[in-house]
Amino acid sequence: MKILDFAIQTAEKAGRLILKQEKEELQIEEKTNNNDLVTNVDKASEALIIKEIKKEYPSHAILAEESANLENQTEEYAKAKYIWIIDPIDGTTNFAHGLPLYAVSIGIFKIKQIKSSKNYDYLAGELIAGVVHAPRLKETFSAYKDKGAFLNGEKIHVSKRKKLRDCLTVTGFPCTNRERNLPYFQTMLSECRAIRRLGAASLDLCYIACGRFDGYWEFGLKPWDVAAGSLIIKEAGGRVTDSNNETLDLFGQDILATNELVHKEIINKFKKL
Ligand code: IPD
Ligand code: CA
Ligand code: CA
Repeated sequence: MKILDFAIQTAEKAGRLILKQEKEELQIEEKTNNNDLVTNVDKASEALIIKEIKKEYPSHAILAEESANLENQTEEYAKAKYIWIIDPIDGTTNFAHGLPLYAVSIGIFKIKQIKSSKNYDYLAGELIAGVVHAPRLKETFSAYKDKGAFLNGEKIHVSKRKKLRDCLTVTGFPCTNRERNLPYFQTMLSECRAIRRLGAASLDLCYIACGRFDGYWEFGLKPWDVAAGSLIIKEAGGRVTDSNNETLDLFGQDILATNELVHKEIINKFKKL
């Protein structure tokens, strides 16, 4: 698992850079949508991670949020066996407002095939490793396929709650089309113990993996939001699908992740919406 150790070291190195740079004045920009932020620190974290990966694994491809070009990267992927899927700061809005709930997220995807559909080319393969490092919270979640999930080196497991009524769930609202989640939010509000909204998808997923939350759903996500966290949940005994209970498509944008025990109950509620 040399590759996972390297991913952890790289995420923690990026974390140290973030902690150093967040003490200085931030340059905050709005992307095409004005609720979608990027800072100079997101860019610096991404540049550091990419530089480290290119040094150690020059033949691997990279899909990183701030430099991604989803439509035109297929050729690069066709030559590579692995893609590193990177969110240099997940939870940028929290970060820009001084909230400590943000993380560096790195997932490693093994490509089996690039398939073509009518609209786009997509990747078929599997996640083999993931790390989510929250520098201000001093927590590093990690997993390697079939080897379990860990928080700061200690094995973690999802919760054992069986009824949605007893569950603490979490969701998020994307930068655009936020209203899509409202009927789901309203339904879940009356069905579970309470709902939280942290603002960092990678942490939402990892907090299910270690039993703090029991369920998480969101729409409008990108591969870098969920790549690492979805493997960490699976390795911690949880279940991750899309909101229709189909296999999670990293490029598919919607997700439902649970401790497995309440998955069906939530899917049955979602079916009625
Ligand atoms: C965002 C966070 C947030 C989620 C948004 C994402 P970013 O990522 O994960 O929790 O609700 O949909 O875009 O922009 O902070 O990397
Ligand atoms: Ca993100
Ligand atoms: Ca980000």
